[in-house]
Amino acid sequence: MRKTIIAGNWKMNKTATEAEALLRGLLDGDSRTDKAQLLVCPPYTALETAGKLLKGSHIALGAQDISEHEEGAYTGDISAQMILTLGATYVILGHSERRQYHAETDQLVNAKVKTALNAGLTPIICVGETLEQRENNETESVVAAQVKGTLADLASDQLKNVVIAYEPVWAIGTGKTATPEQAQQMHQFIREKVAEKDTEAADLLPILYGGSMKPKNAADLLGQKDIDGGLIGGASLDADNFIGILKAAR
Ligand code: PGA
Repeated sequence: MRKTIIAGNWKMNKTATEAEALLRGLLDGDSRTDKAQLLVCPPYTALETAGKLLKGSHIALGAQDISEHEEGAYTGDISAQMILTLGATYVILGHSERRQYHAETDQLVNAKVKTALNAGLTPIICVGETLEQRENNETESVVAAQVKGTLADLASDQLKNVVIAYEPVWAIGTGKTATPEQAQQMHQFIREKVAEKDTEAADLLPILYGGSMKPKNAADLLGQKDIDGGLIGGASLDADNFIGILKAAR
């Protein structure tokens, strides 16, 4: 049985005070289930507040990025250890917005994945094609290269501790969702690529879908055989919407 994960990627939204209000909404709301792991990934500045509020609760905490370095002269960067000490156990890596606005490459993401795993964090590695790539029939080659590049040189026991998020770039924040069939096809494809490295790890690998997942389309997406959860941006910023998606998972 693979773990189902419903993860909120808050991106650059919510001050620490606003984060507290949203988290209280989740904790006080109908957010308890043994069918899925609920996870929130606030910005760094809200991690400490979130870590204190969520300690001992059913909601896990993650960050949206870390440095590939352990420590040192890297102005503006945040290390794995820094987020771990605030209670984070997950980290999103290689999100398409990091790739687009911060020129992150598969090689850099791979270095960050190794740093995260060495620190004991679970990386959520994002992959996905742009609209242009899809229209040029490059979806599979682009995603295969991202999977191969970001998972390069991982040992089998490390591979068993990663999560992948398939996030077609054209579906992120656009209101356009991949159809359940389109998403399932790519999730299956990703699992096959991982199976070429390690079949057991591929079987255990949670693959989350991301891109305009909402309460109304979540059940159809989450009902697909290879879709093991969601990485949710916009709809995770509101407790009722996020819980609505969680309900579709249970
Ligand atoms: P969205 O974002 O749900 O707002 O489309 C998803 C993501 O970028 O992780």
